[in-house]
Amino acid sequence: MIKKLTPLRIGEVRVDFPVVLAALAGYSDLAYRLICRRLGAGYCATEMMLDRLLLIEGKLRRRLVKITDEDHPVAGQLLGNAPAVMARAAVVLCEMGFDVVDLNFACPVRKTLRRRRGGYLMCRPDLALEIVRAVMAVSSRPVTLKLRRSFDEADRDNEAFWEIASGALEAGVAGLCVHGRSVEAKYTGPADWKFIASVKRKFPDATIIGSGDLFAPADALRMLEETGVDGVAVARGAIGNPWFFRQVRDIAAGREAYKPGLAEQREVIASHFDHVCELYGPRRGPRAMRKFGIKYARIHPHPREVRNAFVDVKNAGQWRDVLEKYYADR
Ligand SMILES: Cc1cc2nc3c(=O)[nH]c(=O)nc-3n(C[C@H](O)[C@H](O)[C@H](O)COP(=O)(O)O)c2cc1C
Repeated sequence: MIKKLTPLRIGEVRVDFPVVLAALAGYSDLAYRLICRRLGAGYCATEMMLDRLLLIEGKLRRRLVKITDEDHPVAGQLLGNAPAVMARAAVVLCEMGFDVVDLNFACPVRKTLRRRRGGYLMCRPDLALEIVRAVMAVSSRPVTLKLRRSFDEADRDNEAFWEIASGALEAGVAGLCVHGRSVEAKYTGPADWKFIASVKRKFPDATIIGSGDLFAPADALRMLEETGVDGVAVARGAIGNPWFFRQVRDIAAGREAYKPGLAEQREVIASHFDHVCELYGPRRGPRAMRKFGIKYARIHPHPREVRNAFVDVKNAGQWRDVLEKYYADR
């Protein structure tokens, strides 16, 4: 069992509990961050945001960078490949009140790689470090990196990783979030926790956050213990189970993991729905919630039936009908 859980430190930012919400495109928007925070997530990252989009004032930027008083500390994650543009976008994040600027050198999506962004930078340490230095020069907030262990699956020496990690830490970044898969592997195969442990061993004084295969609350504690990292970022395990954070806290304190009843699930899903409609508007909101409904259904006693019901939802009325029909406490 875990010996001692210490708060997470990211530069001057303190996070009371070291299990945090990972950056999740399509999921870790303001609405879901607020829900996760109420259920125990002390630190969250935004979805990755294309640097160029943050330089254009308008509706999209307003939505992307929207944070509320409740949504702190929060990392704004940037995606891009031009050092000067990344730096300008970092300034926007600082001005908008983000607590941390996080740089994505990890995204494995084909379109992102084709545009030489995200995970592509794992095979361009020179450019990655140029970006780091450009952002560090202008950021008034701590800067962190999201990295994968390598670009190619076959590269077991992870040379580019070490070059980027050492160079960035020398340049003064406040921490690294390490996903223990190669870019090429995308999400297949197990995440390499031994590699994550070796990163912490190599940089004992740096803040290292581990990522990969945290599907159940106990996995989060196991990663902390087995790898020695300072924090862990929960991704797929938290989609549709925002109680994950409360459950980890329970287990860490020696209690049984909390299980929300149907009435509470309904209340949380309804609140999430309201936040989503506020963020995306009443027309886009119900559709934007569909993918969450599908995930929320997984912890319902009748997952398949509820999933199908959520898939068919097109408007707020139908959404409320599903909650009414399947989430009434019997
Ligand atoms: C749907 C989805 C979206 C993701 N979006 C991002 C993102 O925007 N930025 C990022 O750094 N990582 C992103 N990731 C990677 C996760 O943060 C995490 O590193 C990865 O899923 C491994 O953790 P897991 O195995 O516990 O899910 C995403 C992963 C998924 C599944």
